[in-house]
Amino acid sequence: MDGWGPMVGHSGQADTAVPETNPLSGNAAAITEGRSWFRAVCGNCHGPSADGMGDRGAGADLRVFNKGFRKFVETVKNGRDVPNRMAKMPPWGGVLSDQQIYQIGAYLETLAKDGANWKGPAN
Ligand code: HEC
Repeated sequence: MDGWGPMVGHSGQADTAVPETNPLSGNAAAITEGRSWFRAVCGNCHGPSADGMGDRGAGADLRVFNKGFRKFVETVKNGRDVPNRMAKMPPWGGVLSDQQIYQIGAYLETLAKDGANWKGPAN
C-alpha cells in the first residue's frame, strides 16, 4: 500500500490546518458518530468492520493503517488514484467536514490492530 508518489507529502492540501494527532481520539460520542459515518460512506468498499472486504470490492484493510493521523485525513480528503489499479479511493473533501473525518478516525482507532498508527504523528 505504498502508493504515495514523491509529489504528495507535505504539499497536501489543507495539511497545516490538520492537527498532528486526532483531537477526538478516545471521545465516546465522536466514536459513535464516526461509526455511523463509516458505515454510511466507507463500509461499501472497506467493509463494515474495516477489514477491506466491502461489497463493492477491495478497499484497503484499515485496521492496519500505520501512516499517522494527518496522512489519514489527507487520504480521505484527496482520495487516491493509483495508475493501472481498478480500485480507487474517492476524495471526500467537500463532502465530509474535518470534524466528521476526525470522528471516523476516532472510530477506526478502536478497530486498529497492534502496530497500526491512527492517532499519532507519522512514524
Ligand atoms: C469506492 C470505494 C471506496 C470508498 C467508498 C472509500 N474508500 Fe478508502 N480506499 C479505497 C481503495 C480502493 C483504497 C486503496 C487505494 C490504493 O492505494 O490503491 C482506499 C484507501 C483508503 C485509505 C488508505 C489506506 C492505506 O493503507 O494507506 C484510507 C485511510 C481510506 N481509504 C479511508 C476511507 C474512509 C475513511 C472512507 C469513508 C469516508 C473511505 N475510505 C471510502 C476505496 C474506497
